[in-house]
Amino acid sequence: MTLAVVTEAAAMTALAEGWRREGHTVGLVATMGALHRGHAALIERARGECERVVLSIYVNPRQFGPGEDLSRYPRSLQADLALAREAGVDVAFTPDDKEVYPEGFSTTVQPGPLADVLCGAVRPGHFAGVATVVARLFGLTRPTRAYFGRKDYQQCVIVRRVAADLGLGVEIVVCPTVREADGLALSSRNAYLSPADRARARAVPEALKAGAARYRDGETDAAPALAAMRAVLESGADRIDYVAAVDPDALAPVARLADGTVLLVAAHVGGARLIDNIALPVPPDFFA
Ligand code: PAJ
Repeated sequence: MTLAVVTEAAAMTALAEGWRREGHTVGLVATMGALHRGHAALIERARGECERVVLSIYVNPRQFGPGEDLSRYPRSLQADLALAREAGVDVAFTPDDKEVYPEGFSTTVQPGPLADVLCGAVRPGHFAGVATVVARLFGLTRPTRAYFGRKDYQQCVIVRRVAADLGLGVEIVVCPTVREADGLALSSRNAYLSPADRARARAVPEALKAGAARYRDGETDAAPALAAMRAVLESGADRIDYVAAVDPDALAPVARLADGTVLLVAAHVGGARLIDNIALPVPPDFFA
């Protein structure tokens, strides 16, 4: 199978519509490039479940706030296309800004209160930017299923909400977080970490481990678990955006931990803002 690279929105839609007319299932993996094993896992899952796989690579300016890392976001298109080819992607959709937001484009998808908490509270407008581009990508690529990584848990919840609310007819598939050997979740933004920062970044998964360990040991009060998480995170992070225990659907803070509760952290380490989360209870190998 050869990889086709499509940059025009209209050409992308024509291809996808053709596939759908022929009765094929289409899987979409939406990314901002700088691909790593986390992205590859989404592609593999899509490849296993769909007859056609589209990988979109687009650094979406609308989801970056002023002063964020849009201008320095890592870009590695040639390596990304090699990975896509290797992973069996049918089409890499690599539009520029004009294809995604052509002249006259004026719609914004506002996801509502789910977008105002956690990352949304510290990155106002971020999830409207995500929801808008994802809705547009769904429109252009006509996916049967779209694959998202659990690492960006709030993004998954919001995309699922948007797809359901707007009746977009796409099944949202959430895939497990792929981690380095020491537990750090793979992220394109890990490229910002110096070796010393990379060592300190371990505090992010370690903080989640600390919270999960409290729950494993019988703690059901969220406050002491969150305090333990914060203490571990403080040992490595320069600045903490949040440490939270929330219910998995509404993302509302919980006072008591239970099966299904999601623990989340967001913090700055050196030049990188890192996020991670886990659902309780974690499998025993999470503590390995
Ligand atoms: P990006 O950060 O490139 O991530 C693309 C997809 O890969 C997302 O669904 C993300 O959750 C998933 N992913 C990233 N790291 C992962 C890991 N370690 N394990 C498993 N999955 C991982 O998320 C975005 O881009 C953008 O917001 C996007 C959805 C493309 C909209 O612009």
